[in-house]
Parts: sequence; structure tokens; C-alpha cells
Amino acid sequence: MKVPNNPFFGTHYIGRKEKKAVDKVIKSKSLFRYQGPNLQYMTDQFEEAMKEYLNVKYVLACSNGGTALKLSCIALGIGIGDEVLVPSFTFIASASNILAVGAVPKFVDIDETMNIDPKSIEQNISERTKAIIVVHMQGSPANMKEIMKIAKKHNLKVIEDTAQALGAELNGKKVGTFGDCGAFSLQAGKTITCGEGGFFVTNNKDLYMRAKMYHDNGGYRVGCSYPTWENTKTFFGENFKITEIQSAIALEQLKKIDKIISFQERKYQYLINRIDTNFYKIRPFVKGANSFKMSLGIVFSTKEECDNFIKYMNNHGIGFNIYCSNLIDKYDTFKFQNSWDKNNFPYSLTKYIPNKCEKAESLFKRVAWFNLSAELKRKHLKYIVSKLEEYKNVRCW
Ligand SMILES: Cc1ncc(COP(=O)(O)O)c(C=O)c1O
Repeated sequence: MKVPNNPFFGTHYIGRKEKKAVDKVIKSKSLFRYQGPNLQYMTDQFEEAMKEYLNVKYVLACSNGGTALKLSCIALGIGIGDEVLVPSFTFIASASNILAVGAVPKFVDIDETMNIDPKSIEQNISERTKAIIVVHMQGSPANMKEIMKIAKKHNLKVIEDTAQALGAELNGKKVGTFGDCGAFSLQAGKTITCGEGGFFVTNNKDLYMRAKMYHDNGGYRVGCSYPTWENTKTFFGENFKITEIQSAIALEQLKKIDKIISFQERKYQYLINRIDTNFYKIRPFVKGANSFKMSLGIVFSTKEECDNFIKYMNNHGIGFNIYCSNLIDKYDTFKFQNSWDKNNFPYSLTKYIPNKCEKAESLFKRVAWFNLSAELKRKHLKYIVSKLEEYKNVRCW
């Protein structure tokens, strides 16, 4: 049997409602969020609905999760000379957007939860450290209680990269709302989607205003008026705006989020309740976490064991795999300090210090991940359980 394992969670739910919402925008001939002959204010509506969902004061929709991270750095004034702590086990955008503002990442270790290790944060703080980018990997909340304590003690800013964890909670509070700001993605593989897109969230008006201006070419705009650049507060920026079509889709998707999350949870619980957890060690979650169950992670004690398991499952049509070919600090971008700039910005301006992330190096090769595709049916789940049981017996021989 070939078991679905694509990571398109929200994408699976794109349907009639999204189509109707897009048609409405097309009919209005108003695709730009701030102006049009018959503006539908889809982006404003999406931001309002997301504020309520996350229980946060400010939401700014933007072009993608990467730009939401860049906006977070800009809002917090991170720049040349600064160092930002970030886990080495993440997607490259978590680190490349630090470089994009002229700062450098310092890669830190993870713990068994596969998220940033608070101990490693504390060990790596230097006089140049300005902020921590926490990544809630694969829908699982990082240890925000410890991280916020450390940040307070050392006067560091906290950005939550919540690209993979929209809807996840820690002790009843949505992740992405613990730190100074949160960056979310609406890309095709996320909880909800409009293909590409993202949003920045904060409870701080000043940070929101800075992000809003930067994402709108640095202009100051009141409501839907034309922006001004003749205001002492304005600075240069870029265009990171979302379109009304994207927002119309995202708004419909947001209405389905509880259904999406509970369906993922049910699939996860089905598997967890039938797996022999004496044999299979499941990726642990931090205390109080209510993760978004986008995948199942099984931890093995050696790389060989993990490889054997993956091979066996793949031979039976079940797409377990390791998360990535390498940790991001091992990519040439960081290893050789490669830049698009002839003067090698920003490495030439801020010293980049490579770091050893021993636990991450050992762990990432020993965890087999399976995407809990939205297309999984009961027959697939049953089949997975039977193959997990079968493999156990093969190994015991
Ligand atoms: C952890 C993490 N951060 C940031 C991003 C970037 O989001 P986007 O693709 O919307 O730019 C992603 C996307 O996969 C991600 O997984």
C-alpha cells in the first residue's frame, strides 16, 4: 500500500468556500489591500479574525513567513553588530532573515523535544547577543517559560518563529504570543494556507507600527490613504504586502482551523494509542504543550537503527524520513560565509562565530518523521500500525 505523506495540511481543505471568496475579490476588481473601486477589506478582516484567534493586540499580514521574520528583526531594531541566537535544527529562513538585517546568527543546541534548549541559550549569550529566535518545530511549542525567564534576566528580545505551529498552545496560550513578536507562515505546507503569505504579531504598538511601515515601503499610512514619506518617523522599507486574493483564502481557511487541528489530533492519537511505546520512543513534548500534530517523530538510539527503520517503512510504502539532509549551520551559506554581496555583507561587518551543536548533530539523524497527511484514512493508519508492529518483530530477531 502507498500511504499518503504529503505535508499539505490547510491545502487539503481548499474548496468551494475559498473559491467563492476569491470570486468575490475578482468581481470587486480590488486586489490591492489599500485601494480599489470596490474594496472588500479581506486583509483587514483576516487580521481582525487572527487577532481574536490568537488573543493578541496587533496582526500584520505580509507576503510570507520569511518576511514576517525580517519584520520582527526590523521592528526590534536588530542590525549590524548584533548576534541572534537560533537553533541549528530549523528551516533556513529562521537564520537567513537575521543576515538580511545585517546581524549574524549564532546557532545553539536543541533538546529531546527537538526545540531550542534553554540551557544552550544561556551558555551562548555574549555581549553582542540581542535576541533569540525560538522555533516551534513541527507544531511543538518550545519551552517558553524557561526561555522568557532567561530573556528577561539577560535583557534579550524574543522572536517566535511560529511558521510550523499556528494553533499550538502552551498552558492554554497560543504560541507566537509569548515573546516580543511572532512570525507565522501561510505557505502551502502550514496549518492554514493561501499558497504563500504570512503574518507578524505583537502586543506592542510601537513594534507593530515599525513593522507596518517597513512592509509598506517605509511609508506612514493612515487607514487606506496614500502613504507619506515626509514624516520624521519614516524610514526606508520594502514592499512585503499581501494581496486581497491571498487574504480572502486565508480568512476562509481560518474559519476551518479548529476542524483541521482536531483532525490532525485524532490521527496522532490513533497511532500513539496503538504504538508500543516501550519499543518506539516518541518525540517528547514540553509540559503543558498542546502541539499541532503535523507529524509523528520517533527517536532511535543510533543513526543505523533509524536508517534501518526508515528503509523498512519506505519499502512498505510508508514515507518516514529524517527531517533534513543537514543542520542549517552546515549549509555552505554559513560554513563558508557566502553572501550575494561583493563585500560579503553582513559577514564583513559582524563577526560570525561557528558553534558546535552536539546534541542537534546527534539527534537529527536519529529521528524518523512521518507527515500526518490530511489525506490519511483509517485504512492507512491501521496499515501503519501493523507495519510498526511487524518491524518490531523483525528487529527482535
Ligand atoms: C521554521 C520556519 N520558519 C520560516 C519559514 C518561512 O516561511 P515562508 O515559506 O512562508 O517564507 C518556514 C517555512 O517552511 C519554516 O518552516
